[in-house]
Amino acid sequence: MSADKQKWSSNLNFLLAMIGSAVGLGNIWRYPYVAYTNGGGAFLVPYIISIICMGIPLLFFEYGSGYTFKAGINRIVRKINKKYEYFGWFMLTSTFLILSYYCTVVAWDAIYIPLSFFKGWGTDTNAFFNNVVLEASNPGGIFHIAIYVMIAMLIIWFIMWFISHRNLNDGVGRFNKIFIPLLFVMMIIIVLFAVTLPGANIGIMTLLTPQPSTLTNVNIWLSAFGQILFSLSVGMCISIAYASYLPEETNIPKNALIVAISNCSFELFTAIGVFSILGFMSTTNNIPLDQLVTQGTGLAFIVFPQIFNAMGIFGYIIGPLFFLCLLFAGLTSNISVIEPIALALSEKFNFNRSKSVTITCILGILISLMFGTSMGSTLLGIFDTFANNFGVVLNVIIEIILIAWIYGIDDILANINKNATFLKLGKTWITLIKYILPVVVFIIWITGIISNMLTSDTLTTTVELILFGVLFILPLIITKLPAKTEDY
Ligand code: PHE
Repeated sequence: MSADKQKWSSNLNFLLAMIGSAVGLGNIWRYPYVAYTNGGGAFLVPYIISIICMGIPLLFFEYGSGYTFKAGINRIVRKINKKYEYFGWFMLTSTFLILSYYCTVVAWDAIYIPLSFFKGWGTDTNAFFNNVVLEASNPGGIFHIAIYVMIAMLIIWFIMWFISHRNLNDGVGRFNKIFIPLLFVMMIIIVLFAVTLPGANIGIMTLLTPQPSTLTNVNIWLSAFGQILFSLSVGMCISIAYASYLPEETNIPKNALIVAISNCSFELFTAIGVFSILGFMSTTNNIPLDQLVTQGTGLAFIVFPQIFNAMGIFGYIIGPLFFLCLLFAGLTSNISVIEPIALALSEKFNFNRSKSVTITCILGILISLMFGTSMGSTLLGIFDTFANNFGVVLNVIIEIILIAWIYGIDDILANINKNATFLKLGKTWITLIKYILPVVVFIIWITGIISNMLTSDTLTTTVELILFGVLFILPLIITKLPAKTEDY
């Protein structure tokens, strides 16, 4: 990839790829819940402050770094000093863990798309999801294949490989050009329909009614910061890789603002739809709203199918639309995770794009096989917490230390400002990146680790120890392998 110097053929391709990465399952099933449990309407205050003080400044930083070095993270850190190569692969290992499990969640969703046309999940949606789809109750555990999940997962992997292995603009570029607008249009239809449902106002009120007293609670601020990091795909080396393909004349601040605003407005808008639908269910079936509010797979594959059942004929339209939205949001995010890893492999081993994407996908498939078993969802939960709360947050600290502190932020700043028009960055941004954000991110990291340690059972601890081992040793091995690229 570095060898054939890929470039985005238009700024729009870059923007859509970044929006595709940011708008993911987190926007649809994580944000509404996080907002609801953290002060409702009052959550908007820490949320907006985190976008402005953390999300956007970090996007400037990551775009600026990719643009300045025109390289993936492993080569950036090597350019700073050869002895730092290990840290590049360390960061990429967490990203790789995300790649391996996120595709399973997209696969679960893919199973629900055909089912949604005839409400094939029946009346007990909980039992259906756990026993029929995940086969979680099968005593075979990791040795029992959950056949639907396995098949769907292999299909999803094939689609991702097919899109990514082609040249950047024909593959990733064209795919996003079709599916991001489609995703936005479909979500608009869902939300417009949702707000007309009986009981929608109750749901929306619940989501938006501020509990201002919560604003003094530190955890709410940490939740807002955490949500922004995850939602904008910061710390996953994705923005750096995508920004390394930007042409010289790019206006970095403008691009970062567009991505952040698109992602966060999608998130807020979707939350209104999700809560309208929950309000409808609560009113028509007389269930207290807080019993319905959940996140993640519980919301998407258990609560929502129940609601589609209750919607009558409309369920046959909104159901498929909802699962298709999840599919597009998930696929465009997951494809973005292939990029930094494939770029790194080609930069070190001189593979062309097609070959490095193929190798990345094969390695990813091998790891993800374990998620296609009866133990899949349990393992997936552990991978998810580990990669996000531990790995990705740590990545942000590492990139700040290596790039902003050791390499020097002034060069990055000059590049960000080079083609900037209405917004030029200065001292405030430097202070944020070098001094304030590392402290905030470190606190998020520590509190994440502590809360995880308090809740871990034996299985979780065992798997986490193995993941620790992998995270520290795998980068060592790859660093030691001889490079095949002359200018590496
Ligand atoms: N930003 C994504 C989301 O909101 C997070 C993500 C990106 C997860 C890429 C995995 C891969 O869902």
